[in-house]
Amino acid sequence: MVVNAAIFASGEGSNAENLFTYFANNSRIKFKIVVCNNETAGVIQRAEKHRKTVQIISKTALENYTEQIIEFLKVEGIDLIILAGFLLKIPPAFIRAFPNQIINIHPSLLPKYGGKGMYGIHVHRAVIANAETESGITIHFVNEEYDKGEIILQEKCSVVPNETPETLAKKINELEWNYLPKAVEQLLTEKF
Ligand code: GAR
Repeated sequence: MVVNAAIFASGEGSNAENLFTYFANNSRIKFKIVVCNNETAGVIQRAEKHRKTVQIISKTALENYTEQIIEFLKVEGIDLIILAGFLLKIPPAFIRAFPNQIINIHPSLLPKYGGKGMYGIHVHRAVIANAETESGITIHFVNEEYDKGEIILQEKCSVVPNETPETLAKKINELEWNYLPKAVEQLLTEKF
């Protein structure tokens, strides 16, 4: 079967673009929609460059029109939702409508440095402030407990003594660009 995927992103969209490029010639997956909550996010230009449909869905809309958004995605035949730097909380009804069909990429070794307020550079600052010697990425299913769904894959990197949040972010991005496509490939063979 062809898996219809939606990518939800709030920011730069480097992971989204990496997925478009990686799977450009793979007929098993089609990235049908990019959902973004921020009209000025970099991901919009990246998606348009790859001729993807972008749907802007605000925080208020996600909270107040959850059923309509679920319906829209069902009509589009979406089988898999990838949160690639999506910073809004997914409403419980939405998670129930797509059981084990939503995955998230988180820039730490969960359960460490997860939960509310832990996103992007904030995670890296906390990791360095706590003098951790390693960090990494977690790709996991999304359930109703924030950052606590079943883990699909984790990969580590070192945190060196003179590390800055910016240098750590770069290492984490490299891991994400390498491993998010692999996790998606794994789902294509094992789940769909
Ligand atoms: C990624 O590092 C991702 O792990 C992080 O946002 C970044 C998005 O980068 N996600 C979170 O912090 C979620 N809690 P991108 O927009 O360039 O793909």
